[in-house]
Amino acid sequence: MTDHSDLLAFPPDFRWGAATSAYQIEGAAAEGGRKPSIWDTFARTPGKVVGGETGDIAVEHYKRYPEDVALMADLGLRAYRFSVSWARFQPDGRGPANPEAVAFYRGLLESLHAKGIEPVATLYHWDLPQALEEEGGWLNRNTAYRFAEYAELAKQALGDLVQTWVTVNEPWCAAFLGYSSGIHAPGVQDPPGALRAAHHLLLAHGLANQRLKSGPHPAKVGLAPNFYPVDPLTDSPADADAARQIDLLQNRLFLEPVMKGGYAEDIRKHFAEVCGTEHIRPGDEEIIAEPIDFVGVNYYSVYQVSAGTANGEPTSWPGAEDVAFHKHNKRNTHIGWDVEPNGLLRTLVDIHTEYPGLPVYITENGAACDDQADADGRVQDDDRVEFLRDHFAAVHEAIGRGVDVRGFFVWSLLDNYEWAEGYGMRFGIVHVDYATQRRTRKASADFYAEVIRENGVRP
Ligand code: NOJ
Repeated sequence: MTDHSDLLAFPPDFRWGAATSAYQIEGAAAEGGRKPSIWDTFARTPGKVVGGETGDIAVEHYKRYPEDVALMADLGLRAYRFSVSWARFQPDGRGPANPEAVAFYRGLLESLHAKGIEPVATLYHWDLPQALEEEGGWLNRNTAYRFAEYAELAKQALGDLVQTWVTVNEPWCAAFLGYSSGIHAPGVQDPPGALRAAHHLLLAHGLANQRLKSGPHPAKVGLAPNFYPVDPLTDSPADADAARQIDLLQNRLFLEPVMKGGYAEDIRKHFAEVCGTEHIRPGDEEIIAEPIDFVGVNYYSVYQVSAGTANGEPTSWPGAEDVAFHKHNKRNTHIGWDVEPNGLLRTLVDIHTEYPGLPVYITENGAACDDQADADGRVQDDDRVEFLRDHFAAVHEAIGRGVDVRGFFVWSLLDNYEWAEGYGMRFGIVHVDYATQRRTRKASADFYAEVIRENGVRP
């Protein structure tokens, strides 16, 4: 395809990357000393995951990582975001690091470095050791201290090979999908508890941030919330209030206390009304507010909300039971999410306005598409190409408006296990034939390789 339009050029050192997470790709669930995480347990619980699918095998990245790193190098990736499986690294959630896990992650990191690909390691991408869930999981404050210990061990074992760390991926999902609506592991339905879990996840982030910053190797640390601009359906005061509540629980809760030294008054009030504030102990907010080096933005879509009626189902926004969600349905992905590149621009500009100078990585953005592979495994995913092109252009625009965006990690490198959706939702730019584990670049991978080569996108 010849395209004569002007290149939207990115800064010279822009990190073009791709992202994955351990449970979604590694497989080898019972190998190398790994013990069950909450996702192993949840996936085995009837009715929780489409088709009863599990990450037992996933895409066998545990043994195929050399091939996967070669793929990354062929694409020209400059960076790769992966997660360390806590249940592999420290199988009981306490005690020493598992040497086989250390060997695996060091092998991965060394092959990345050999290809000049900069690693970004996430410590918590939802695979809490089951042993800790038995003690209450994120409802238990102690889990935050266990996490700090795990972070310290990870830094000791891998810190010479990793400079950039993401503490917690999408704390909203971990807290509210995990402990309020229960549609993710561990499947608990306890809305007030879930709000306390959110605090414990923020505390875990802060404690880990402190540990990662200490010691011999330099470390850049951030967290990666999932941001959604929220709009009211109408200009009625009731809809405006619905939008305010969702924005508080979705966006503000997971960045404001980190950046502003504590919970804002209305957030504290929300805690007080839903679950009390006893769990917020003196000193917690200082720990949470330990300075971060960047914020990771996971961005997929926007929300449009109105005042609604509670339907008795446990909500994923504890304390905001009376809110209805609407789709604009102008364009959506296979998983049903509205496509809205402008929402990414809004998110970035909002972060920049609120926190000028804070470096940002797009730690995730991508699309599930109804990919049809031909006999050779090739997929002509023009819809994903268009999605990515539009979101890259949004980031270019944000940089033009002064937002310090340092990199973009496409979700995902490979088709993989999409949590409660199982393997049916494909987000990869590389197709995986789950029967043979063969990897084949989709058209979007070729497109992305071109973007990286040109260090820019043609709208
Ligand atoms: C968010 C999560 O971090 C990732 O694990 C998931 O697969 C993608 N978004 C798509 O839902």
